Amino acid sequence: MKILSIETSCDETSVAIVEDGRKILTNRIYSQIDIHQKYGGVVPEIASRNHVTKLPYIIDDALSETHMTLAEVDAIGVTNGPGLIGALLVGLSAAKAIAYSLDKPLIGVHHIEGHIAANFLQFPELEPPFLTLVVSGGHSHLVLVEDYQTFKVLGRTIDDAAGEAFDKISRVLGFGYPGGPAIDKAAKLGNLDAIAFPRVFLDKSEYNFSFSGLKSAVLNYINGMKMKNEPINPNDVAASFQMAVVEVLVKKTIDCAKHIRMDKICMAGGVSCNSLLRQMMTEEAAKAGLSLHYPDPILCTDNAAMIGAMAYYNYINGVVSDLSLNGIPGLKI
Ligand code: KG4
Ligand code: ZN
Repeated sequence: MKILSIETSCDETSVAIVEDGRKILTNRIYSQIDIHQKYGGVVPEIASRNHVTKLPYIIDDALSETHMTLAEVDAIGVTNGPGLIGALLVGLSAAKAIAYSLDKPLIGVHHIEGHIAANFLQFPELEPPFLTLVVSGGHSHLVLVEDYQTFKVLGRTIDDAAGEAFDKISRVLGFGYPGGPAIDKAAKLGNLDAIAFPRVFLDKSEYNFSFSGLKSAVLNYINGMKMKNEPINPNDVAASFQMAVVEVLVKKTIDCAKHIRMDKICMAGGVSCNSLLRQMMTEEAAKAGLSLHYPDPILCTDNAAMIGAMAYYNYINGVVSDLSLNGIPGLKI
């Protein structure tokens, strides 16, 4: 079954064709990063307008790369939330128009479930159940994937998402947007023990996260140094901040897996591109005897192939949408 999938929830306009939820035939991604960079973050209205102008061409690119016509596609998958409402509606309108005009099934996909499903594309043999750390610009969740349709949130951030913290700290350090890759790079040149930023574990028996205290601690450190007229080493700040985030993410994930007796863990979302997170999670999972999967960076950040993978599992489990499918900015998992 070949599903044409569309992802426009934030600042990537992406169209993919995925076969049977596991095989990528094409995954075209047009990133608007260059456009939003000068504003220091994503401007929702500009994102929507660029989706409108780019999406028809990206659909054409995906079809021509696979030498397919729309008539040869079996169904249409589309992200319907969470995300920016204007951005979501562009993808949804296109998906509905194609599904209606060609009388093909329309399948709405939850963006976070899509991020998790990226692992199915990378690892054809991977099957639920497993525990997933989903860390992106808008989410930090520990999700137990019981089967292809049952996602249980065991922990979530009570304030900022991990990616949001990376983006904010990057901005104050002058590294720009998006912050994650910039901090990752700068941290390689810094000393991760230079500054003792707090590790916020909250209640040890819980698997929730909190990153706003850490963000304030970094801002206070920078302001304090400025007031004392002392030099700031941005690479040291980046390395120490990154270590504080990663240590918490790794410890909570491993503790949670042990507690629920789950020996398989995955990572998903843009922040799972982070090199320290990958390295430390690999080391700690090995020590704890857990198997670990995470997709290539291109499948961790927003892309339509992950939406096509999840759409397939929705479809074969009878979860199909109709033309009333709407964009829901705060769609719950
Ligand atoms: O999953 P994603 O592409 O979009 C959302 O659904 O939010 O994630 C984007 C987030 C941004 O906050 C970006 O700074 C972060 O992922 N990110 C990283 C890295 N690459 C992207 N964070 C830390 N280290 C990275 N290497
Ligand atoms: Zn995302």
